[in-house]
Amino acid sequence: MRKAIVAGNWKMFKTVQQATEFVNTLKAVPDFLNDALRAEVVVCPPYIDIPAAHAAVQGSPIKVGAQNVHHLKEGAYTGCVAVGMLQGYVEYVILGHSEVRRDLGETDARVNEKAKLLLENGLKPIIAVGELLTQREAGETESLIETQVKAALNGLPAASIADVVIAYEPIWAIGTGLACDVNEANRVIGLIRGHVATMFGSDAAQALRIQYGGSVNPGNMASYMAQPEIDGALVGGASLKIDDFVTLVRHAIQAKGA
Ligand code: PGA
Repeated sequence: MRKAIVAGNWKMFKTVQQATEFVNTLKAVPDFLNDALRAEVVVCPPYIDIPAAHAAVQGSPIKVGAQNVHHLKEGAYTGCVAVGMLQGYVEYVILGHSEVRRDLGETDARVNEKAKLLLENGLKPIIAVGELLTQREAGETESLIETQVKAALNGLPAASIADVVIAYEPIWAIGTGLACDVNEANRVIGLIRGHVATMFGSDAAQALRIQYGGSVNPGNMASYMAQPEIDGALVGGASLKIDDFVTLVRHAIQAKGA
């Protein structure tokens, strides 16, 4: 059985102090550290918070992720952070988030380069894919998702596919409160797994975890987690509040807990 993975994408929220406080509070929630052994629990703070979050999670199973990374090893790239700088601090890096695609021009080819670089350096990508509302309405969801998934995973070593996480995040569902119908999310995620099977074989596809993301909250998490194809959630808004985040992790464990 695939281990559930619940990742909090903090986006541009929380100072260093607030990040430390959040992790310390999480660690003190009764039984939470036991829960965090039964599913992977990842917090993805802004870059500047990462060393503090890393220090705070020590001695706990809580993991740290980054929200992006540059595609080159080093160089004259103002404002950017390289994989080597994240090593030792994070286990996961979110790639291809729709906000990064929109605001920083992230392309499928770039996501692919970054995924290769991460895996070569022992880090794990969480690759976000998803369609705009206009694309969904035009009946383009399936073809767009296929293009994004195939481009992102192109040429990755088959042996590393189990270290890849994909997040299906319909863009119209992100931060809008318009969460995707759970059966539809399960259907699209099943299609994604089918593309992975075509590329890398069914064993690899069965090992790879696929999250749903987009307006996940404590009230709807259980119904996503009850779906067979959905292995966890990538969560923005509801990951910023301790009580909500704890509830999300508990729903993941109840449905899929190892
Ligand atoms: P949301 O964001 O949970 O606030 O909708 C999800 C995401 O962007 O990863």
